Amino acid sequence: MADQQIDPWSVQAGTDEQGNTLEFDYVAISQKWNTKLIDQNLLERFEKVTGKKPHRWLRRGLFFSHRDFDRILDSYERGDRFFLYTGRGPSSGSMHIGHTIPFEFTRWLQDVFDVPLVIMLTDDEKALFREKLTFEEVMQYSRDNARDIIAMGFDVEKTFIYSDLKYLGGHFLLNAWEFSKLVTFNQVRGAFGFNESTSIGRCFFPSLQCVAAFATSYPEIWGDDPDGDLRSKQTAKIPCLIPMAIDQDPYFRLVRDNSHRMRFPSPKPAIIHSKFLTALQGPGGKMSASNPNSAIFMSDTPNQIKNKINRHAFSGGKETIEEHRKYGGNPDVDVAYQYLTYFEDDDEKLKKIYDEYKSGTLATGDLKKECIALMQGYVKVFQERRNAVTDEVLQQYMKPRKLEWKGNPNPVKL
Ligand code: TYM
Ligand code: TRP
Repeated sequence: MADQQIDPWSVQAGTDEQGNTLEFDYVAISQKWNTKLIDQNLLERFEKVTGKKPHRWLRRGLFFSHRDFDRILDSYERGDRFFLYTGRGPSSGSMHIGHTIPFEFTRWLQDVFDVPLVIMLTDDEKALFREKLTFEEVMQYSRDNARDIIAMGFDVEKTFIYSDLKYLGGHFLLNAWEFSKLVTFNQVRGAFGFNESTSIGRCFFPSLQCVAAFATSYPEIWGDDPDGDLRSKQTAKIPCLIPMAIDQDPYFRLVRDNSHRMRFPSPKPAIIHSKFLTALQGPGGKMSASNPNSAIFMSDTPNQIKNKINRHAFSGGKETIEEHRKYGGNPDVDVAYQYLTYFEDDDEKLKKIYDEYKSGTLATGDLKKECIALMQGYVKVFQERRNAVTDEVLQQYMKPRKLEWKGNPNPVKL
């Protein structure tokens, strides 16, 4: 028997007395880390302020928790500026579908709010935390992953993607040093489980992922002077919203505890947390780049997707067709069904599938067929877009520059 273990570098569901893996307990993690669960009120407020129907991942509770998202809605309503920040640790050349969740969601948020977005590629982190990865390899992964991210469809006018190893300097690094002066070893030990044998690189790294949530780290975006000694006090006040899976939360608790102590204080960054997309092996399983059968990769062929789902996707169906027809299946543990809840937008269709599978009229093979078609479609569109990402396009997104956005077209003057 073991409790679930969630931190930025490993995600492990709990086990029962027999050692069987349990599902993640998201309410428990929200309580432990003191986040707020997203409720119907918040979704109604979202719809009122933006005039848009909440994304299916909000409607279905896949983005389930937040910190200060309500305050972001308030600033948007007033027509105030804010920006989006998310990231990826490039540990391999291709992302799996789990990694695309926060990016797909972030792109939707960018469309809804029409705001600037920064995407951090923590290649430095991966070289520091993965014994076998060299700095040279992770720089290449950054470029590969940036192409994947661009293929998610971000608007180049309002999106800046950067590799830590290539971009960091100037006001960003200044913020990181200033932040590192405020945070003791005791604090990072508590947040990340470091000890006396942890390398000094690893101990410092959180400073970088943290200050990436300060607007002053990107003077170019706002048209501030990147070469001057002074960061802009006004820019420091621009709030930040971070969409991500909940494993990354420890970083941002650290920022939220310290942002007001900076020389130019920033508001606490707001966060919106997702659950983890399950590995093919079932609830509690971990998608891992090192186990190709645990996940669908964005580089998989239609046939690979079909075979992975048919052979490896954990099924909630019964052993035989007869039993299935008689007793029905269990959609709640069925991985093909779980993936449908992420990628099928039609609420009614999804409900029909759920009911028919549960009653046994829909067979496992047919459920998997639905899932395969949907995933093949998602990956195909992605691959077409990715093939269109030339070196020039890559450079456009990764060039530090002034971004262009409109924000709320009809702010409410209170
Ligand atoms: P990384 O590369 O481990 O993960 C990238 C993003 O994907 C989320 N994620 C998942 N979401 C749903 N289902 C899954 N199975 C799944 N696996 C990963 C992660 O939570 C993350 O949002 N250090 C970070 C990079 C980073 C970052 C950030 C992430 C830097 N700044 C700000 C989020 C926000 C990392 O290694 O992410
Ligand atoms: N990406 C990390 C790894 O491959 C672990 C990880 C980070 C993770 N965030 C996650 C796993 C979210 C599942 C879900 O080791």
